[in-house]
Amino acid sequence: MRIEELRSLLGPGRINEDPDIIKTYSDDWTGRYKGFTPAVISPHSTDEVAEILSWCSANEVKIVPQGGNTGMVGGSVPLDGELIISLRKMNNANFSDTHKNQIIAEAGTTLLEIQNLASERGLIYGVDFGARDSATIGGTIATNAGGLNVLKYGTTRSQIISVEAVTGTGTIVGNLNGLEKDNTGYHLPSLLCGSEGTLAIVTRTKLRLWPEPEEKVTILFGFDNIQEAINLTEDCVTSNSEIVACELFFQKGVNLVREAYGVQPLWENKHSTYLLCEFAGDHNISDRLSEGVLGKILQTHNSVLVATTDGERQRLWQYRELHTVAISQKGIPLKLDVTLPLRNLSHFLESIDTICRKINPLCSPYVFGHCADGNMHLNILQSEPKVNALEEEILQFVVSLEGSISAEHGIGRSKAPYLHFQRSENELKLFAEMKRAFDPKGVLNPNVIFSSDN
Ligand code: FAD
Ligand code: MLT
Ligand code: ZN
Repeated sequence: MRIEELRSLLGPGRINEDPDIIKTYSDDWTGRYKGFTPAVISPHSTDEVAEILSWCSANEVKIVPQGGNTGMVGGSVPLDGELIISLRKMNNANFSDTHKNQIIAEAGTTLLEIQNLASERGLIYGVDFGARDSATIGGTIATNAGGLNVLKYGTTRSQIISVEAVTGTGTIVGNLNGLEKDNTGYHLPSLLCGSEGTLAIVTRTKLRLWPEPEEKVTILFGFDNIQEAINLTEDCVTSNSEIVACELFFQKGVNLVREAYGVQPLWENKHSTYLLCEFAGDHNISDRLSEGVLGKILQTHNSVLVATTDGERQRLWQYRELHTVAISQKGIPLKLDVTLPLRNLSHFLESIDTICRKINPLCSPYVFGHCADGNMHLNILQSEPKVNALEEEILQFVVSLEGSISAEHGIGRSKAPYLHFQRSENELKLFAEMKRAFDPKGVLNPNVIFSSDN
């Protein structure tokens, strides 16, 4: 690979070939995908991204775009020796000068940097999740990341107003006009959001911000059965306009968080199921919560913890937010990220243990997730050597329950072999034609979304 040509094109400080540095980019966060690459390229502008992709296309050099490398489906690492284009150095973000409630950000800006900037003006960014300090805006657009507040603010797709991107031929497309309404042909922000770096590299974006709620209240409920927690979720979502998060998790996961982080037990561990709800709105929100449907359960249900201060709220959130890291400390989980219609959610959750044990009696499944979205994260430890059998069985079960094989993490490489469970042959053909239009030489993330064995 004639890296020297690229070096002379970009000038000094853009290409890193140091094996020790490269290693920190080429393995994924979960530890399941270990890649290799001759070099990491760090462009500093959209024009440099365009130069790189034009060179890659002309020389048919395959690349993997990378943001914070926190992706969970093997889509951000070079498993076949591709070059890595890291967007991390493109991390400028400022308030828009045309719209007071918008931020213009380069792709490598992290979620946390956007959240901190927004709060300077008493605004918030609608997407939030545990990897906020390293996940980048470009990566969250590429995966259409969801997170904790989808039920109130939507996924990343709902936050994007404009994008600028570079296609696989090095062509710069899109704009940053920030116009809420701009129906001038195909909507690139919608199309590129969720395309996982297979159609174009997102370089800059304009994001909508929301007014920061004056107050937040976080309430943890302990239940002895799943359906009660799902019923409360539906009651809150259909009756309370101030609910912003509704997270479901179980005693088994809490035990792991307690073991890893020494947090206090909840109600002497007597419950099997937990629901963490967060409400946000104008002053005196606590008074409003004591009324209506929620008010009744707050008066009658015994296991309820209410947190109003930031410290108390963080203490409750840690039971949920520390699941991912606590599980990863025990081993490399098989990670499934699925969506179920709420009417089928308890059946799915009550069946999972049996399905897993039938295939691999030694495996240990942990489930937790975004209940109002029907989005469950199934992390299975000791899944080897039956990983594919577990994936196939569970994903087919999800599809049989009218669910989705990927809720918010994307398809990447890990779900590519199963995409046909859910998308028709004609759709997959159309996807391939769209890919050819944007990336005719197939240099962008070649085995992401499209399975090499399909
Ligand atoms: P990377 O991992 O670097 O890349 C992800 C994908 O996007 C790859 O296919 C890559 O090629 C592509 N890509 C990256 N940058 C660009 C770009 N500029 N242009 C085009 N393609 C690009 N995800 C959720 O949705 N919800 C959650 O609740 C959630 N919680 C998490 C909690 C933890 C602790 C961790 C570690 C991860 C979590 N994630 C969650 C997963 C992950 O953070 C998201 O998928 C995130 O969007 C990845 O962003 P990133 O910048 O790390 O992207
Ligand atoms: C989360 O919601 O914490 C992540 O999406 C979970 C995961 O690690 O699967
Ligand atoms: Zn999640």
